[in-house]
Amino acid sequence: MVTRVSTVAFEGIEARQVDVQVHIAGGSVAFILVGLPDKAVAESRERVRAALTASGLALPSKRVTINLAPADLPKEGSHYDLPIALGLMAAIGAIPSDALQGFTVLGELALDGSIASVAGVLPAALAAHARGHGLICPEASGPEAAWAGPEIEIIAPRSLIQLANHVKGTQILRRPEPAIAPVPEGLPDLRDIKGQESAKRSLEIAAAGSHNLLMSGPPGAGKSMLAQRLASILPPLSPRELLGLM
Ligand SMILES: Nc1ncnc2c1ncn2[C@@H]1O[C@H](COP(=O)(O)OP(=O)(O)O)[C@@H](O)[C@H]1O
Ligand SMILES: [Mg+2]
Repeated sequence: MVTRVSTVAFEGIEARQVDVQVHIAGGSVAFILVGLPDKAVAESRERVRAALTASGLALPSKRVTINLAPADLPKEGSHYDLPIALGLMAAIGAIPSDALQGFTVLGELALDGSIASVAGVLPAALAAHARGHGLICPEASGPEAAWAGPEIEIIAPRSLIQLANHVKGTQILRRPEPAIAPVPEGLPDLRDIKGQESAKRSLEIAAAGSHNLLMSGPPGAGKSMLAQRLASILPPLSPRELLGLM
């Protein structure tokens, strides 16, 4: 029997659907990963094996074949760990086989079974939503995924065990709230500019009214210095601006 889990492959910021197919059969003991994996994807075999062991699950002493379909699309990155591990868990009965239906899954595994954050969660969530799927992603990436909209179902577990408990209904995870990464401290501040009152006033007017700004002056007059400090007086971005929708 073949277990299928949906995940994505990134082409630029486009997230294309990829199917992780897990097949366990008799024969010599092996763990084979096919479907044009790059080095990081191929190494997921070792992370998945260790993470399952750390979660109290052993891989069966059988021939395990994982295919990433479509097989002719190159797969890059470490976010295939989680769909591969969940496909294996469903195949060996550690989680119900229908638990992953209607979900797109991405995340990287640590050797202890915890789920590490990955890049590209927002485009993956938008793509999942577009095809009517929910999203299973790392806990740390949950707030980013939640920007995809209030309707999309998001499960953001910290570890394989937490996810298994969630799908079995013993410990229900809450849907993450959208949040942005905090603004880094110590950005250049407009306070650093000495004098230049009319230039500072121009910056303030441009920031307040979203106007364009043309700076002209001899080298060393302070143009770069002023431009770097414009960000310190701009208001925080709105959610729509953050998503680049306006
Ligand atoms: N009004 C100012 N207040 C404080 N420092 C200034 C001012 N104008 C110039 N400087 C100093 O001169 C340096 C060069 O300015 P810069 O912004 O690189 O000039 P420009 O980009 O116009 O060539 C700045 O890094 C800063 O140390
Ligand atoms: Mg300059």
